Amino acid sequence: MILCKSIAELRALLKPLKTQGKTVGLVPTMGALHAGHGSLIAASARENDFTVVSVFVNPTQFGPNEDLDAYPRTLESDCQLAEKMGANAVFAPSVHEMYPSEDMTWVEVTGNITKVLCGKSRPIHFRGVTTVVAKLFLIAAPDRAYFGQKDAQQAEVIKRMVKDLFFDLELRIMPIVREEDGLAKSSRNTYLNAKERQAALCLSRSLKEAERLYRNGERNPEVLKKAVRNVLNAEPLAEIDYVDIYAVPGLKEPAVPLTGENLLAIAVKIGTTRLIDNVVLGDITTC
Ligand code: PAF
Repeated sequence: MILCKSIAELRALLKPLKTQGKTVGLVPTMGALHAGHGSLIAASARENDFTVVSVFVNPTQFGPNEDLDAYPRTLESDCQLAEKMGANAVFAPSVHEMYPSEDMTWVEVTGNITKVLCGKSRPIHFRGVTTVVAKLFLIAAPDRAYFGQKDAQQAEVIKRMVKDLFFDLELRIMPIVREEDGLAKSSRNTYLNAKERQAALCLSRSLKEAERLYRNGERNPEVLKKAVRNVLNAEPLAEIDYVDIYAVPGLKEPAVPLTGENLLAIAVKIGTTRLIDNVVLGDITTC
């Protein structure tokens, strides 16, 4: 597996492959790879001739009081996992490589889609995500790009950007990968101590309760949200950031009673660690 640290190196690697008509899959990550990323890499390796995993802790998507400095940086083990799951190259640029000047171009999706859910408490987050993902798309020009449903709002925002900017690629949004006990895999799970790790199970438990009610015919979003809150509030270490329901695609206000597909998304602080999880209520259920 090849490690590229510069844009020029990656482009030089990909150019002959494209000339030969080979397909390229891109898996953008911030590193600290876990089985969730592994499933994206494996999907890309199955569906493309060549898979590139980008590992870049993107400073522009972190707010001033967020965990940029503490974010785990584990390039060596990331390369090992990427290779094991079938990646052909890892692209790990420096901050200066990706943001060479203080004067810079932003790519921003505006409107409710970036203001609701995580956008409420992280007002600059999605602008940072779309800016870096657009750069990665322009550098690697992938045929397919892979993201996880765990970051459901991110996936919706990137879908919007791809459509609006006419990126010529296929977005593949892959299902949430969970631990055996239900906790959604996340790089931030490593911050949890044993007690918090146990407490964090309230997230998937609360979504399962909503799914159960939905399966039994409940279509009132307020009732479903209240049921989720009740489960979360019963956990002393949990502090709710949001519990919300929006119609997908697009994160529009949901119909009442609910029809079609709706995203039930939650963000909860367990100790100092903010975790997110979600389930799509409708034809497809992912929890
Ligand atoms: O989901 C992530 O890890 C990041 O938001 C992404 C898409 C790699 C952009 O930095």
